[in-house]
Formats: sequence, C-alpha cells, structure tokens
Amino acid sequence: MTASWQLWRDKRGRLSSLRIGTLGLLLMPLAKALVDAHAIIHGARPLNDLIHRAGFWALVFLGVTLAVTPFRRIARYGNLIEVRRMLGVGAFCYIAAHLTLFTADQGFDLGKVVHEISHRWYLIVGGTAWLGLATLAATSTDGMVRRLGGLRWRRLHQAVYGIALLALIHYFQQTKADVTVPAFAASLFGWLIAYRLLAWWQQTSELSTLSLLALTIAVSINTFIGEAIGIGTAFHVSPMLVLDAAFDLDAGIRPGWEVLAAGLAVVALDFVRARWNSRAARTRAVAAE
Ligand code: HEM
Repeated sequence: MTASWQLWRDKRGRLSSLRIGTLGLLLMPLAKALVDAHAIIHGARPLNDLIHRAGFWALVFLGVTLAVTPFRRIARYGNLIEVRRMLGVGAFCYIAAHLTLFTADQGFDLGKVVHEISHRWYLIVGGTAWLGLATLAATSTDGMVRRLGGLRWRRLHQAVYGIALLALIHYFQQTKADVTVPAFAASLFGWLIAYRLLAWWQQTSELSTLSLLALTIAVSINTFIGEAIGIGTAFHVSPMLVLDAAFDLDAGIRPGWEVLAAGLAVVALDFVRARWNSRAARTRAVAAE
C-alpha cells in the first residue's frame, strides 16, 4: 500500500505522471513567488503582495478542482478523477497560507485578526468561505468518507458551490478598480456550475457538443450583460454604453469574449474527442468481427 504522503504514487504504489504533473502545477505559484522574491521583498508591502498571490491561487485551484468533473468527461480522460482530491486540498493549502499571511500582517495579534475579520464585510465573506473550505478539506480523507457515508459526504461537499460563490464575492469586494479579472473568474465558475445544472436537467452525465456550444454562448452573453449592469451601476453610466464599448476590441478584450474563447476551445475538444472515440470504437468492432 502507498503511504498517503507519497503523493506522486498511485494507489498501487506506481509512479504516476498525472500525479507528478498535478504536484508540479500546485507548486508553480510557489516557484513563481521565489522567482519574484527580489521584487516582492523590495515592494511597498511584501506581505500584502503574498496575501494577494495566495488568495488568487487558492481561487484558481478551487476552479481547477471544479473543472475536473466536466473536463474528464469532455476530454474522455476518466483518470483525472484520481487528482481531484489533491487539487482540492492544494486549494486549501493556499487558502491556509492566505490567512496565515494575513495574521502575520496583523503582527500575529489574534485579537486584532478576529476584530478585523468581524468588522469588514469582505473579510466576513472571505472568513465564511475559509471555514467552509476547511470543513471540506478536513472531511476529504477516505476515513471521513466512510464515517459520513457516501450520500451524506456528497451532500456536504456540494457546499463547494456556495463556497466558490462567497470566494468570488470576496474577490470582487476587495478589488478596488478594474474588475476584468474577477469578472472573467466569475464567468468561468458560472460555466462550470451551469454545466452541472444542464447535465442534471438533461438527466445525463455527458452533454452533447451542441449543448456545450449553447452553454458557452449563454454564459458569455450573461457575462457581457452582467458586466454592463455592474459597471453601469458603479459608475452611473448607461449599461448600453458599456455594452457598446465591449465590441470595440481596440479598447481591450472584455471577459465576455475571453469566456467565449475558452468555452469554444472546450467545444472543439469535445468535438474532436467524440469523433476520435467513435472511430476507435468502429475500428475495435471491425477487428472483433
Ligand atoms: C479569513 C479568511 C480570509 C481573509 C482574512 C482574507 C483576507 C484577504 C485580504 C486582506 C486580501 C487583500 C485585500 C487588500 O489588499 O485590500 C484578500 C484578497 C483576496 N482573497 Fe482573501 N481572505 C480570506 C479568505 C479568502 C478565501 C476563502 C478566498 C478564496 C478561496 C480568498 C481569495 C482572495 C482573492 C482571490 C483575493 C484577491 C487576490 C488578487 O488581488 O489577485 N480569500 N483576502
């Protein structure tokens, strides 16, 4: 049996390239921080810089964890499920670092940390998401799955969607000026959640290429509309003007276009993999005759 700390080995104890690749991916932000160490140390607020990095990567890995289920179906790569837990726990490690760095920034004065968190809305929201993620990480072991029972465990872990929503609200709340990246992140999460809702509604585990295309177009239209209403309300301008500006590509690529491009790449992958699979099945059938 493989010891649980040997993250690079699969359940049978063999070296796994998928697990090694995932570990590499999870360590990449650390490597990037080391490369940027000089700039971070000599920056205006080194700890704040690290708080931002840890929070950002926690959100990214939370998204990657949620992407495992749709992606393994679309890419017809079932083995991906093997690394879902590693990705989720990785996201939690970054969020634990996020809070630890915040505590360091408050001079490790726990009274001040609690006071800050309970007196600022964006920290109350972030703190609630933090507790949620900690609960999911603590119940992610095989022992806890057995203890809770499959159904209760799955129900508990469905809280991840609410936690992701809180994390995104926290991200928007602390963003002072340009909301382009938070809006893009929100629309990617929107795509991942809409994928599950559509699969549930169609009572299927595999959406057709056409459904994926419709989903992508609907999410990108929603992103354009949501951004227009958000910016329009915040800056007291007509949302129609903001919407108009989104089509002026010289002024910058808006998140609606980005999510459309990402979604179309997924649609293309599904199209290719579906044809590839049916050709392989036909070849196997002919060989068996
Ligand atoms: C007790 C819990 C938390 C605390 C105390 C906290 C604190 C903070 C602070 C102080 C900032 C920087 C704000 C600024 O400079 O004005 C920040 C930013 C951020 N936090 Fe949190 N946070 C918490 C939970 C979370 C959680 C659970 C997530 C996501 C899973 C998260 C994701 C982020 C992101 C994405 C940013 C912005 C990063 C960027 O600018 O790229 N935080 N947080």
